Amino acid sequence: MSALLLRDLRKTYGNRLEALKGVDLEIPEGEFFALLGPNGAGKSTLISIVSSLVNKTSGRVEVCGYDLDRDREAAKRCIGLVPQEVNFNQFEKVANIVINQAGYYGIPRREAIVRAERCLRQVDLWDKRNVVSRQLSGGMKRRLMIARALVHDPRLLILDEPTAGVDIEIRHSMWEFLRSVNRRGTTVILTTHYLEEAENLCRHIAIIDHGRIVVNRRMQELLAEVQTQRYTLELKYPISQVPVIEGYAVEREDAYTLIAEVPPEGGVHGLFTRLAAQGIEVQGIRNGSSRLEQYFMRLIAESGDRDGAGAAA
Ligand SMILES: Nc1ncnc2c1ncn2[C@@H]1O[C@H](COP(=O)(O)OP(=O)(O)O)[C@@H](O)[C@H]1O
Ligand SMILES: [Mg+2]
Repeated sequence: MSALLLRDLRKTYGNRLEALKGVDLEIPEGEFFALLGPNGAGKSTLISIVSSLVNKTSGRVEVCGYDLDRDREAAKRCIGLVPQEVNFNQFEKVANIVINQAGYYGIPRREAIVRAERCLRQVDLWDKRNVVSRQLSGGMKRRLMIARALVHDPRLLILDEPTAGVDIEIRHSMWEFLRSVNRRGTTVILTTHYLEEAENLCRHIAIIDHGRIVVNRRMQELLAEVQTQRYTLELKYPISQVPVIEGYAVEREDAYTLIAEVPPEGGVHGLFTRLAAQGIEVQGIRNGSSRLEQYFMRLIAESGDRDGAGAAA
């Protein structure tokens, strides 16, 4: 069964802004899934719809087999959500925030207290249980939201940019914790605009851009593809036939030009050696880049812009 199934999901804000333009996505149970995309791509919109915070315009959403239109309450119970912005009552004590959340799911208070202790210990906030939550640091607030999201034992944990603004040390310990949650069988979906984060944590990645899924791959395949470089080779002498070289995809652009896809294992050096063995001499090389790399460069540039704007504000 899928932890999450989206079919032709669309969202228009007001009557103009199409934030989601027909998203299809299927995430199996047990997956650790990254939704990567620049600011404004539609990540939070997607997550808010799945978590019933925002209404979809059209399309189908199923959470752990429950259709959002028919079984909304059951679907909601399957999800633990860590939203992008802090949304708890900052004047409430840490422990109460978690205990009250359990109450929303109908968990009796005595049981809620036990669970709150377990969740707060897991995120290293047990010491802070009697502190008014406003006094927590940014990283602690985020961990509190994670504890709160886990108190009803959701099958699907969804985190919207969980490490935005969290310093590197805490980020790494959060990664470790999320891995352990996933190892215990919980499906984890997170959004991020850090490729590095997706790369470190997730087994599957989808890239969303302007409301559309543009890439949806196993992380390992994706990395292999990114590492495969496309080079343009200028030849010393013209060739009439495309050389066949094992392990490399080679195309002929014209008599003096070849385009070669170079995987990381063989490298450019391996390619040159094999070409030379066929009597082909290369006199110049230009480094193109893969389509994915172009996406990533844009993603990085756009999130850089955004971080810059944030720092300036
Ligand atoms: N409540 C809203 N009303 C109107 N437009 C919105 C609202 N929320 C988001 N948007 C717009 O929808 C687009 C997608 O936003 P969002 O889902 O927040 O993207 P992301 O989380 O990837 O940064 C953006 O253009 C954003 O300005
Ligand atoms: Mg967002």
